[in-house]
Amino acid sequence: MERRTVWLVGMMGAGKSAVGRALAQRLGRPFVDSDAEIEAAAGRPIPAIFAAEGEPGFRARERAVLAQLAGRNAVVALGGGAIAQPGAGRLLARSGRVVWLRASPRTLLARVGDGAGRPLLAGRDERGRLRELARLLKARARHYAAADLAVETDGLAVEAVAAEIAAWLGREERGVAHGLRRVPVALGERSYEVRIGWGSLAGLGAAVAEAVDATRALVVTVPPVGRRYAAAALRSLRAAGLPATRFDVPDGDRSKSLAQVARLYEAFLDAGADRSSVVIALGGGMVGDLAGFAAATLLRGLPLVQVPTTLLAMIDSSLGGKTGVNLRRGKNLVGAFHQPRLVWADAALLRTLPPRVLAAGMAEVVKHGAIRDAVLFERLERDLERVLALRDEALVLDVLERAVAVKADVVAQDERETGLRAHLNFGHTLGHAVEALRGYRGILHGEAVAMGMVFAARRSEALGIAPEGLAERLRALLARAGLPTELPDLPRAAYLAALRVDKKRRGTRIRFVVLKGVGAADTVALRPEEILPAGRAARGGRPQRRRAAAR
Ligand SMILES: NC(=O)c1ccc[n+]([C@@H]2O[C@H](COP(=O)([O-])OP(=O)(O)OC[C@H]3O[C@@H](n4cnc5c(N)ncnc54)[C@H](O)[C@@H]3O)[C@@H](O)[C@H]2O)c1
Repeated sequence: MERRTVWLVGMMGAGKSAVGRALAQRLGRPFVDSDAEIEAAAGRPIPAIFAAEGEPGFRARERAVLAQLAGRNAVVALGGGAIAQPGAGRLLARSGRVVWLRASPRTLLARVGDGAGRPLLAGRDERGRLRELARLLKARARHYAAADLAVETDGLAVEAVAAEIAAWLGREERGVAHGLRRVPVALGERSYEVRIGWGSLAGLGAAVAEAVDATRALVVTVPPVGRRYAAAALRSLRAAGLPATRFDVPDGDRSKSLAQVARLYEAFLDAGADRSSVVIALGGGMVGDLAGFAAATLLRGLPLVQVPTTLLAMIDSSLGGKTGVNLRRGKNLVGAFHQPRLVWADAALLRTLPPRVLAAGMAEVVKHGAIRDAVLFERLERDLERVLALRDEALVLDVLERAVAVKADVVAQDERETGLRAHLNFGHTLGHAVEALRGYRGILHGEAVAMGMVFAARRSEALGIAPEGLAERLRALLARAGLPTELPDLPRAAYLAALRVDKKRRGTRIRFVVLKGVGAADTVALRPEEILPAGRAARGGRPQRRRAAAR
């Protein structure tokens, strides 16, 4: 069966009919509403079918209509529960592309109003309707999540949603290879590519099959990511002939532990893993580090593919080969270098990131510009808000490509961090200190790095290495992303103590990364007291504010 039908799925009130009509018009195809088809065949409205035949009678009619519509060259708005019918998911996937219109229960409630004409909401007050909508959404979520594309419709106009779907369909039909950015990581026989696309998740399976000679895929993820994207990833892998199994670990950096690694080893082996199995890390840096470490060590090393889903992971942690877990006494203390065979980044996935996590990732993008790519830095100075809005695909892909290229270039020159790679630690000396002093709570890594970078830039100026004004440019840019730029006002002694346990310390000196200008970094070996001179402590080059005398 040709995959011609465009199936719109989602809850009642998600806007399937309105969006479907607008989309059909854009595509020049007929529009069909499956509920209207059922009514026409039965010769009566849906509430009357429910009254006469009950829900089972309605569902039987729905199955018959689904089978008739499958493969038609039309845009079809499906009744909210149709996708939960036995075998429906497979029929839809085989006969067309499935688009899920997502909306929160509150939005749905506002759109369905008093629920007239909706038998499943009949006889309920407003609270009851909200509760029922939330319950139905939860019960059907795993079916919806198998869609090829999910579009958030909260607060979005019908035409905007239709335009987004039409653009995606256009790309799908041209093939996902179109528009992919490819950044090579040149490491001799361990070379690989970072491929960045927009809406390219469906192409994962074919790319993995091409890059790795594997017979099985072990997909590691966390629930917030898996819920949205694992079904599409698994379907794409299976379609490429790779049996795929999903493994969930709890969300949060605490999962980067030896205990979780041990759990994964057992689960992988239970699922039949052998040396021809490829581990796929589907998630942010946490998943990448954890799954990567499991891949590096199980059976003396399994091939790894990174599918980064956060901004930080796309431009930083997924490439370079560092994998590892935390110990109670410190972060990333156990690890291995294990380069992936492929990094497959779909930038459209960034749209579901919590804004704070997106901004934290932006700190690392700014860092890459600051240390090595003045053009990237200036582009961000011009367009930062537009990049964060994630609407201009070409702009987002340009920025990602440049930021990835910085890391790829540094890693290719210094895989094991004997020299140049240290530049990537710009802002990290004080950043790590802040994280440690805060007990890693209430602060994201990128936020700590933002503060650390501004501090380091001010020190660079104070040491006469950077031109005056550089730190202010950096601060202003980070502030526009909503990132904090000033270190917490903690006692100098606390900072010094934290610096003395810096992992990057050699003897009594720390290789402190400074800026020589925009796009140019260097390191200087400094003692902690020189990094934080008395009286200037947390403010970098500036004298510290006087504390109020009376408290
Ligand atoms: N290996 C390296 O070179 C390297 C470099 C930098 C950082 N790291 C590590 O990376 C980790 C931090 O990574 P991170 O910032 O990506 O955090 P993360 O992996 O913890 O993800 C942040 C949050 O975003 C959620 N999320 C991820 N993708 C999403 C999506 N598309 N939609 C909605 N939610 C999504 C996650 O569930 C999580 O709650 C740390 O453990 C750090 O040590 C590793």
